[in-house]
Amino acid sequence: FAAVDVIRAKRDGERLSAEQIEWVVDAYTRGVVAEEQMAALAMAIFLNGMDSAETARWTGAMIDSGERLSLHVARPTVDKHSTGGVGDKITLPLAPLVAACGAAVPQLSGRGLGHTGGTLDKLESIPGWRAELSAEEIGRQLAEVGAVVCAATPTLAPADRKLYALRDVTSTVESVPLIASSIMSKKIAEGSGALVLDVKVGSGAFMKTIRQARSLARALVDIGAAHGVATTALLTDMSTPLGSAVGNAVEVVEAVEVLKGGGPADVVELTLALAREMLTLAGLSHVDPAEVLASGEAYETWCRMIHAQGGDPDAELPKPAHVHVVEAPESGVLARLDAYAVGVAAWRLGAGRARKEDPVQLAAGVRCLAKPGDRVERGQPLLELHTDTPEAVPAALDALSGSYDLTQRHNPGAAEGTVLD
Ligand code: URA
Repeated sequence: FAAVDVIRAKRDGERLSAEQIEWVVDAYTRGVVAEEQMAALAMAIFLNGMDSAETARWTGAMIDSGERLSLHVARPTVDKHSTGGVGDKITLPLAPLVAACGAAVPQLSGRGLGHTGGTLDKLESIPGWRAELSAEEIGRQLAEVGAVVCAATPTLAPADRKLYALRDVTSTVESVPLIASSIMSKKIAEGSGALVLDVKVGSGAFMKTIRQARSLARALVDIGAAHGVATTALLTDMSTPLGSAVGNAVEVVEAVEVLKGGGPADVVELTLALAREMLTLAGLSHVDPAEVLASGEAYETWCRMIHAQGGDPDAELPKPAHVHVVEAPESGVLARLDAYAVGVAAWRLGAGRARKEDPVQLAAGVRCLAKPGDRVERGQPLLELHTDTPEAVPAALDALSGSYDLTQRHNPGAAEGTVLD
């Protein structure tokens, strides 16, 4: 094969053959196909798409670029992936909960991307906790604790790592076949037997409309089916932040509240909805996750999971040097609180990164003291901005300008459940 022929075929709207796909992904990973050639091919895919057979093969080629973990555990394995949101700490209560229900949860997670938070950044606010584990450590912890939340090993889908960085700088990220194959190559290589996808939709998500989210969910589920991994997807709301806490340590605090039987209703509801999907795929639909959560077993599993990765589950978490309170300018009902704006504010306060290699502030973030549907009085605190760098507050306030509406009438629809589909 020659790279130019593969690029030309896709440029002219042709389907790529299995052989062309396998060759080009492998040759790119080995450096035989140049970055500029893959950039041109990514743009041709962005513009002309790939059908579901091409996307499944592209995913297979990315999996084959590295190693596939083989998890030898007696329990059924099942994982969850969220397409990313604001305040989305669901992995934190969910992984130990599903493990406490009898499944094994190998959850390889990521770091924050833009305005969306990253599970590893949140967990690193726990003193001593370690994200990087070897394949052996992952296997051992899965067998002993039942849940592992850690970073992907470097040998997992290296083609995706290279291609993702290239897409980021060539404006080719927002393509359904490229996003779907990127997500699924890592999840399938991780070796889980089943997968539940939480496809976010709304201002704080990658996919802003239900139509786009449905199309991504369909592409993800089709790839899972083509590779023999039982996969289902929920479309869930990301128009307003999940729960009250957005950031790193603040989200861990909220997740622990859920594990101890409290926490915000929307976080509990989504955790249980995803747990039920995961347990069904794992053949454990007879177990009621709400009962296991109430029993305290999920919290015990959380403590063992954190401890196994060097963390102290009882340690005090970092506190911000500065807290700025935003008060309600008038009395009324909070009709809207925009997820994207709150995500950007938390990012600017230091919870996220400006550049890939930057550190995050563990104590930075936003606490939303009222949720859509709540009545608030003039002067009542609406939002708390947490940061170690108070000079970041004006930029966060700027991001929050126009991000909420206070109305005089109660609007019950605004507060309804998170599961859209
Ligand atoms: N997450 C991924 O892993 N890949 C994408 O392309 C987009 C989101």
